Amino acid sequence: PADTKPPAGTGVRGEGDMPGVVIVGAQWGDEGKGKATDVLGSRVDYVVKFNGGNNAGHTVVIGDQKFALHLLPSGILTPDVTPVIGNGVVVDISVLFSEIDALIERGVDPSKLLISNAAHIIAPYARTLDNVTERFLGKRKIGTTGRGIGPAYADKINRLGIRMGDLFDEPLLRDKIEGALEQKNHLLVKVYNRRAITVDEVAEELLQYRDRLEPMVTDTSLVLNQALDRGETVLFEGGQATMLDVDHGTYPFVTSSSATAGGASTGSGVGPTRIDSVIGIVKAYTTRVGEGPMPTELFDESGQHLAQVGHEFGTTTGRPRRCGWYDAVIARYASRVNGLTDLVLTKLDVLTGLEEIPVCVAYDVDGTRYEELPQDQAAFAAATPVYEYLPGWSEDISGAREFSDLPQTAQDYVMALEKISNCRISAIGVGPGRDEIIVNHDLLHARGE
Ligand code: IMP
Repeated sequence: PADTKPPAGTGVRGEGDMPGVVIVGAQWGDEGKGKATDVLGSRVDYVVKFNGGNNAGHTVVIGDQKFALHLLPSGILTPDVTPVIGNGVVVDISVLFSEIDALIERGVDPSKLLISNAAHIIAPYARTLDNVTERFLGKRKIGTTGRGIGPAYADKINRLGIRMGDLFDEPLLRDKIEGALEQKNHLLVKVYNRRAITVDEVAEELLQYRDRLEPMVTDTSLVLNQALDRGETVLFEGGQATMLDVDHGTYPFVTSSSATAGGASTGSGVGPTRIDSVIGIVKAYTTRVGEGPMPTELFDESGQHLAQVGHEFGTTTGRPRRCGWYDAVIARYASRVNGLTDLVLTKLDVLTGLEEIPVCVAYDVDGTRYEELPQDQAAFAAATPVYEYLPGWSEDISGAREFSDLPQTAQDYVMALEKISNCRISAIGVGPGRDEIIVNHDLLHARGE
């Protein structure tokens, strides 16, 4: 009953509370989180994006329509869901509205979207700085998406950032832009040989969206905690992935935000006591875009085969993804640093037709076997995979809807991954379509189940 509920924001669970569920990528991104989110979509009341910006790329296939979302939470496609952009996100407002307008054109109603007043804005100079910094880094470059993500988070941590709420206080906004530009213009002009930017041009670009933004910008932490108090379900959708997390990923070849489960709390203003399950999305093989180490990367025909069959080209940048076999060391690590309760294994169908499938169970670094991720950057860069070889299958599995519909060797492959990844596999993707999935365990379960 409503009167036994604790007040909003206390973090105390009331009787009959429904879960707070986190979804994170367990590898280097592009694991198919959009699809997993979408599968839960109709049973969820809120979908919250808690980190990253328009560096993400979710592809969701509905009927014969393919939607590529970069900034908006994938819940935007489900009519009864309220999509939320949390405080942990950095927002490029022009991209936001081009995505919103494109959705409206295709008949999707995005009017329920809420944006945290504390979310930071990717200012136009952040984009410029992202690209010039990468150029100046030369061979040390990160291979960023060039969307201004790193510089926007750097400004946030440097306390030079501009937040969504600032748009509604023009003198404050102009003052903040002026403060930021005093520093940026020195950098742009004296170091990077670019032209100086004026306060007016930045203010004008940002303020043109103010009226459209006004109904969306709010205290989303309060909205979400109140929703949990009412017993509604909140899904926290992580952008990027565990190995790109600024703390737990392959630093410095990472993104600039908290892409692991802890980021769901800091990036939304919902405390960890209100999160009941943490679902990691893992592809049946591994991909990575951008620079940085990737122990199972393939440079031969098998890599090209995975790229072609799995359509491994970036949703955001179109870059070809680096492909390799499943890496259980990374899956175990992801399971640990996120406290995963479930794994969703995606793209199992891409492996169909292979005679045997190598799976990396440990690393070898100069003759030493590592069962856990080496913490030393040089050791991880030098790690070579120790493979076990599992038998493949040739049958088309895209029609499988029950685990028992899979050929025995595919079942064995999944069970082997579950064992070496230290987490149960609760669902298995067998094709790109919305319904091409096998669900072994309900993903909306309460803690302790
Ligand atoms: P940034 O996020 O643009 O700063 O890029 C930092 C690193 O994260 C680069 O290696 C990018 O390729 C990678 N990255 C960023 N977003 C994604 C994503 O959604 N999927 C996969 N990789 C990403």
